[in-house]
Amino acid sequence: MEKYLINPNQKISKINKDIYGHFSEHLGRCIYDGIYVGENSKIPNVNGMRCDVVNALKEMGIPVLRWPGGCFADEYHWKDGVGPKEGRKKMINTHWGGVVEDNSFGTHEYFELCRQLGCDTYINGNVGSGSVQEMNEWVEYMTFDGVSPMAELRKQNGQDKPWKIKYFGVGNESWGCGGNMDPEYYGCLYKRYNTYVRDYDGNNRIKRIACGPNGSDYHWTKEVMDKVKHQAQGIALHYYTLPTGDWGHKGSSTEFDIKEYNSTICKAYKMEELINNHLAVMDSVNPQKWVKLIIDEWGTWYDVEPGTNPGFLYQQNTMRDAVVAALTLNIFNKHADRIMMANIAQTVNVLQAVILTEADKMVLTPTYHVFKMYKDHQENTLVGSYITTDEIDSANDKKKFPQLLESASVDENGNIYSTITNTSATKSAKIKCQIADTKVKSIKAEILTGDIHDKNDFENADAVKTVNFSDFRQLKDGFTATIPACSVVKFVIEK
Ligand code: AHR
Repeated sequence: MEKYLINPNQKISKINKDIYGHFSEHLGRCIYDGIYVGENSKIPNVNGMRCDVVNALKEMGIPVLRWPGGCFADEYHWKDGVGPKEGRKKMINTHWGGVVEDNSFGTHEYFELCRQLGCDTYINGNVGSGSVQEMNEWVEYMTFDGVSPMAELRKQNGQDKPWKIKYFGVGNESWGCGGNMDPEYYGCLYKRYNTYVRDYDGNNRIKRIACGPNGSDYHWTKEVMDKVKHQAQGIALHYYTLPTGDWGHKGSSTEFDIKEYNSTICKAYKMEELINNHLAVMDSVNPQKWVKLIIDEWGTWYDVEPGTNPGFLYQQNTMRDAVVAALTLNIFNKHADRIMMANIAQTVNVLQAVILTEADKMVLTPTYHVFKMYKDHQENTLVGSYITTDEIDSANDKKKFPQLLESASVDENGNIYSTITNTSATKSAKIKCQIADTKVKSIKAEILTGDIHDKNDFENADAVKTVNFSDFRQLKDGFTATIPACSVVKFVIEK
């Protein structure tokens, strides 16, 4: 029997809702088809946004949406995407499949989408191929409420009042697709570009995000932090989970054996090590800890589905992805004092998507259900928790990883929310939970579980879904339970 301790008296930090954030790039069928179908589409839409997708994302509790990229951001020229649609420039999306980008989804459409979703905004600016003036004017266009050329242009294009930008990224992957820069050079460039990202709205200071490291590139973090620590509120780490660790052959999203499953989970757990190590580097440069960690691209990355455009990064999503999402969100929760935002890649039809679409059909993936289960944690207070656990061997990695991972939070009424991931493909786990200084009044629980290969598709959209969980016994100060193999369980404890 594993011991699970929750200490609601040990209040650690508020869990920023933006840890549950998402990312939508002009890539494959994420924006076009997946989110935006245009006003004239037969697919039910409001101002061009698919109603089914918008409703599902709202239901899931999407707090913030990053746009327009990704690699696309450093080739995006915002003026191509404003004004009458007939006159908008058509361009090649060179990074992603070489398809025509008609710019029908631009700045106005992005803010309309966020309005419909009721979520906050995170815009990524172009440092790689854009000018300081272009970035400066974009921010003026979006946020200035006065007389100026860009505010006038916005009004002419139909938006009288300025919008609000919560986060602004100054470049993306500047070590790679965003310009192949060295950290010292990027750090200087960040300061120059950022100077002209003005705060026009006296009631809203834009949170500026510097491009952070690729995985374990600690040198990048150190050098960039040295330069930007007085000018950035966040630095953004990117880390993707590839089952094989090999970009040439990443592995299939649906056909994998248990060794590859374990290797995927083992590699997803690397997030914990990366967070700790990057935070240590950040602290050495900025002991006051002003600069927060952002993980604005994370998730599984497999070979594309056979027969689909390799540049579209379309992949299926199974219970393996649900386990990756659940353990990663538990890791983020546990670092809630230092992580300001995280954005899974990507919202619809790309990489570890929460939604897949095909014409007018929509499928909610196992990853979607995890985000929906975990939404209770948003803006709660993280509390102390600890679980004993077996370890599982990942033969491919010559490493072990924990079978169980948990996190716990309390809401303003003192109710406790506990999410537990059992990462084992085959083994259930018996646990005994004790909650300090607590008399339990009632417990409700729900579960997402199945075989590691289980998925939802257009023929069987509800094969994997959350159901009530009753395999637990309430105790005076906690509960006992059997957590099935390959599962995610949420307990809601009223005291
Ligand atoms: O999410 C897909 C791509 O992965 C993004 O465009 C880029 O930033 C990263 O390399």
